[in-house]
Amino acid sequence: MLRWKNIFLLSCNMIIVIDGPAGSGKSSTAKALASICNLVFLDSGALYRTVTLLWLQENKPDDKQFYEALSSAQIHSSSDDSLFRVYLHGKDVSKDIRKSSVAECVSEVAKKPFVRSYVNQIMRRIVQTGSFIADGRDLGTAVFPDADLKFYMDASVEERARRRFQELKKAEPENKTITYEDVLNNVRHRDKVDSQREMDPLAKADDAILIDTTGLTFEEQLKMMSDYIKKLKHKP
Ligand code: CDP
Repeated sequence: MLRWKNIFLLSCNMIIVIDGPAGSGKSSTAKALASICNLVFLDSGALYRTVTLLWLQENKPDDKQFYEALSSAQIHSSSDDSLFRVYLHGKDVSKDIRKSSVAECVSEVAKKPFVRSYVNQIMRRIVQTGSFIADGRDLGTAVFPDADLKFYMDASVEERARRRFQELKKAEPENKTITYEDVLNNVRHRDKVDSQREMDPLAKADDAILIDTTGLTFEEQLKMMSDYIKKLKHKP
């Protein structure tokens, strides 16, 4: 049965997307759904974060210089079921991109149209290789408008900042300067930049299923979303 399921998914190259603001739980949900539903996880935010790391390493160049640096950069990713890794010039930077220095400027870098075209191109190439569940901001509206299934996850800004604060404390235990208020301000700022940028802003696609996670446990939301995916898999 499992064998048949694998063949079915591979031949269909299914794409399921989850969009939503920072800290709404997209990545952890997409990872869990990838392993429950036998899909490969694609983290679009990790690609934007890698491009941002390059921008920081190049000492915040202007757009013209950055366009050139990006054109010659080597950015790769690997997906191993629920594990999505990113590489910059051959080095695994999956941990580096989670630092607060990257979070602070990623939305500014991600709003540049040439950056968005660059990342979209990488993603569209990746999904040709199998069946994916991807998370981001504009996947259902701009990158994969014909996705097989679209979710939009949301939660209150305080709840999202609380989750992100816990994650940052875990990722950077040596950094004692991170406060909940700073994280809340960063999340609010990113919400604003992401939803007001000119090209492909954060938005719910008309045909996306809204999942508000404020009052839900992780298990409850997983059950709800995996039920939708199962129905999709059983379509003739
Ligand atoms: O996990 P979190 O929601 O904090 O962010 P992320 O998914 O790692 O994405 C980091 C940033 O990349 C977001 O704040 C957006 O500015 C940008 N992004 C985007 O513009 N479009 C996407 N499809 C994914 C991320």
